[in-house]
Amino acid sequence: MLFPPNDWLPKAPLELLHLDWLSHAGIDVAILRLDQIDPLISGNKWFKLIEHLKAADQTGAEGIISLGGAHSNHLHALAAAGKRFGFSTVGLLRGHPQETPTIKDLQAFGMQLHWLGYGGYRARHEAGFWESWQTRYPTLYPVPEGGGGLPGARGCMQLKSQVCAQLAALGWSDYDGWWLACGTGTTLAGLVLAEAGEHPVYGALAVPDDHGVAQQVERIVAEAGVRGAAYELLDTSRGGFAKIDPQLLEFIEQTEKLSGIALEPLYTGKALLALKQQVEAGRFARGTRLVFVHTGGLQGRRGFNLQA
Ligand SMILES: Cc1ncc(COP(=O)(O)O)c(C=O)c1O
Repeated sequence: MLFPPNDWLPKAPLELLHLDWLSHAGIDVAILRLDQIDPLISGNKWFKLIEHLKAADQTGAEGIISLGGAHSNHLHALAAAGKRFGFSTVGLLRGHPQETPTIKDLQAFGMQLHWLGYGGYRARHEAGFWESWQTRYPTLYPVPEGGGGLPGARGCMQLKSQVCAQLAALGWSDYDGWWLACGTGTTLAGLVLAEAGEHPVYGALAVPDDHGVAQQVERIVAEAGVRGAAYELLDTSRGGFAKIDPQLLEFIEQTEKLSGIALEPLYTGKALLALKQQVEAGRFARGTRLVFVHTGGLQGRRGFNLQA
């Protein structure tokens, strides 16, 4: 049994975000704190894993094999879930052996690691990639990079109900849209499926345009058969994935001081800075209410010498 028998379903708090640039523009933002659901299985990762774990259970698998980089939030949450709920995990890693705080955690959580090099990791999209790994680990269920695909998106659909259940407590009768960081676009696709056009979803891209996020989102939405999808992807990677600049770091530091909410520079920091720029450019009318999703990833801060 991989999925927790008691349907362990963490609840993410929804809180108002108080920042000068929002109040000047008359924009209300509530932040969905997926970073708060659990100290280890944090962020959007658990939601992206839910349906994969259920599918693995249906096949009688005893564990999960998946892929990621040396700072991967996905492998971190997966390894922590394996340790917590008692299933085995194998991680296939991009590049050559190195010791990062994330890798040390993966080992401590009992995940078995294999380094694929860069060429070997690129082969993950080729037909037949999984065959040799399934021969080697016949009892493990393969989960794509980042917990993506339609199952990953379906698990994220419940974020809408978590938000709706907490609106009244904020004094909100409704909201006008979502704003969140995108890596593969799976979490955004889940919200797009849940909304089915009711509210728009704005995705701040943590990766450059040519990473195929738009195609991936389209594929998921088409596979789910949803019509009238309302979303927009914004080019907000600031020069590329994991590219950090002084303006971004200063914004993160200031925001943390003012709000008490920790951000990380790859996803949530860039997404919130992009929102600030759009708000200041007058994109949203006064009185607009947005839900910003804090997708977690704080363990990855250690790779930038920031505290987790
Ligand atoms: C902290 C964090 N936020 C956002 C994302 C993006 O999620 P998605 O791949 O579902 O777009 C990721 C992973 O890619 C992440 O680790």
